[in-house]
Amino acid sequence: MAYELIDLDRDGRVATVTLNRPKALNALNAPMMAELARALSELEADDGIGCVILTGNEKAFAAGADIKEMVDDQFLDIYKNDRFEANHCAVERFRKPIIAAVSGYALGGGCEIAMMCDFIIASETAKFGQPEINLGVIPGIGGTQRLTRAVGKAKAMDLCLTGRMMDAAEAERAGLVARVVAVDDLMDTARDAAVKIAGHSQPINMILKEVVDAGFELSLREGIRFERRMFQSLFTTEDQKEGMTAFIEKRKPHFKHR
Ligand code: HXC
Repeated sequence: MAYELIDLDRDGRVATVTLNRPKALNALNAPMMAELARALSELEADDGIGCVILTGNEKAFAAGADIKEMVDDQFLDIYKNDRFEANHCAVERFRKPIIAAVSGYALGGGCEIAMMCDFIIASETAKFGQPEINLGVIPGIGGTQRLTRAVGKAKAMDLCLTGRMMDAAEAERAGLVARVVAVDDLMDTARDAAVKIAGHSQPINMILKEVVDAGFELSLREGIRFERRMFQSLFTTEDQKEGMTAFIEKRKPHFKHR
């Protein structure tokens, strides 16, 4: 089935998913979230894809959940509806590496979805915020938790309580964003990173991601134990033998499990 509210492009082992409701600044409505979830499950199952870029357009990555769609909802509409539990959180369940490439507004649910990605590359025009307080609500898909872990309590409280936006430079200083580049360089930079990632062993990328993410749930001692056990288990893989042998033989590795 074709996609209408997102674009899905494949280039070698990298897929780019582009949110595509520009007139509404990519406001995240239920059909778009369902398409995003469907695209990610398609890409998860596709062994030819090793890394995904999630992006929007120059004006907006996404200006949040669709306010017009939500305004008349009651508790049970939101509680029962798939768009919150299943579709809005598809990015956090995605097991392969996924990079958010952000220009323009990443607000509310848009900021939350960018934060569900493994890292964010931002252009100089990016603006991040959790302005839900202005609408009489609070972030609903992880903003209070992920933003606080990324930038610390002081700045997260500042952003969530005032509803103000922070620009790309502040976001990079605060640790929300991995890199800031010129707007014209955004997609090339994201693609270069994605190509590099997709050239590694795919299961080892997935394990690395699982171990880093586990650090948000576990104590330091348990996290380090999990890392050590996973590190040791990699010595059962052909890709560990290939990676280390290639280094010794001064050649590029050809990982079998890509
Ligand atoms: C629905 C939206 C929208 C949104 C923008 N639009 N954001 N529609 N939901 N979140 C629509 C506008 O209504 C308008 O449609 C068009 O996009 C252009 O927006 P403007 O406001 O005219 O653009 P501009 O003046 O440039 O202002 C940009 C902006 C502003 C500062 C980003 O649009 C804005 O504040 N948007 C809302 C941001 C927000 O509060 N996000 C959090 C949502 S709640 P028309 O038809 O008039 O042209 C949330 C909760 C998530 O995300 C938790 C659960 C999922």
